[in-house]
Amino acid sequence: MKKQVAVLPGDGIGQEVMSAALDVLKAVEEQFGHQFKVFQGDIGGVAIDRHGTPLPAETLELCKSSDAVLLGAVGGPEWEDNPVHLRPEKGLLGIRKELGLFANYRPIKTFEALRDASPLKRSVVDGVDFVIVRELTGGLYFGEPRERRGQHQEVAVDTLQYEKKEIENVVRKAFDLAATRRKKVTSVDKANVLESSRMWREVVEQVAADYPEVEVEHLLVDVAAMKLVYQPKQFDVIVTENMFGDILSDEASMLTGSLGMLPSASLRADGFGLYEPVHGSAPDISGENRANPLGMVLSVAMMLRHSFGLEEEADQVEKAVQEVLNAGYRTGDLEGIEKIGPVCTTSEMSENVVEHFQPNYAMSGILAAYM
Ligand code: IPM
Ligand code: MN
Repeated sequence: MKKQVAVLPGDGIGQEVMSAALDVLKAVEEQFGHQFKVFQGDIGGVAIDRHGTPLPAETLELCKSSDAVLLGAVGGPEWEDNPVHLRPEKGLLGIRKELGLFANYRPIKTFEALRDASPLKRSVVDGVDFVIVRELTGGLYFGEPRERRGQHQEVAVDTLQYEKKEIENVVRKAFDLAATRRKKVTSVDKANVLESSRMWREVVEQVAADYPEVEVEHLLVDVAAMKLVYQPKQFDVIVTENMFGDILSDEASMLTGSLGMLPSASLRADGFGLYEPVHGSAPDISGENRANPLGMVLSVAMMLRHSFGLEEEADQVEKAVQEVLNAGYRTGDLEGIEKIGPVCTTSEMSENVVEHFQPNYAMSGILAAYM
């Protein structure tokens, strides 16, 4: 298979985790005889410095002419005092909107080897396996007007607005996904207060009628936040508004022990997607080769699966990650959690994944034991 991938490392640890993930992509290429042409572009703070804008036109063009996009992270203290249109985050929001990536999948699955990584009890987190489907190009993040008003700018306005069609698009994605899993959709809203949530519920009920085999439940967002730490195993697919999904996914990350482990996919209806770890640019450890690259590596696996239909390749990458964790390798964020092997650097972690990726790895291990 021949594919073109736009690679946007961005800021902070984005650069390091991206180069680690590209090593893994290279291994997939060699192992399975694919050809992935990789082109780099700027986004976020580095783009502000080099081009005067967080989302240069050429970056957008590169993404549009590619088959998928990999993104590291954006943001950092250097740009914190910039006006809103010159903030790195504006680049991320802009690219999601411009590419029409309305459905953001954030899988929350606990790794066996990291079962003690969560601050929650083992009995609560063991076997957790669900996906948050976050609406990504509408809702409170994008509604107009958004402005300051009043003689002294003493009033601030944000708007939560949805069209039925936008809700339907993301809700259908959630039902499609649930149909391939444990067949349960939990729709999260604030229908006891918000008009947009009451419409959200209506649309979910309409879509649900097309999926009789999928169970549907509605939860208010405050109750959902509580249940995420009380009984997370009850969830299969959660679908929700942009801002609610942002908050709930950070909360849910702690079930797995580290935000550094989580991948995400942001998809369009035709399968085109942008893949990025859920974590940010972590300026406090950037440039030190200490960041956990596994969220980015697992994002590569999601790209192989969702955009290229390469199930086996994606499974292999995920399996290699699992084996490396089973073998005891931990980056600093996972340190102190049942550390069996040495604390490893970002690049050592990806080298380990590449090594475990060789299909003859298990065999050579067995042979080595007899030599
Ligand atoms: C995320 C991030 C972004 C968001 C920020 C960096 C704009 O927190 O992807 O969850 O709020 O969507
Ligand atoms: Mn977030």
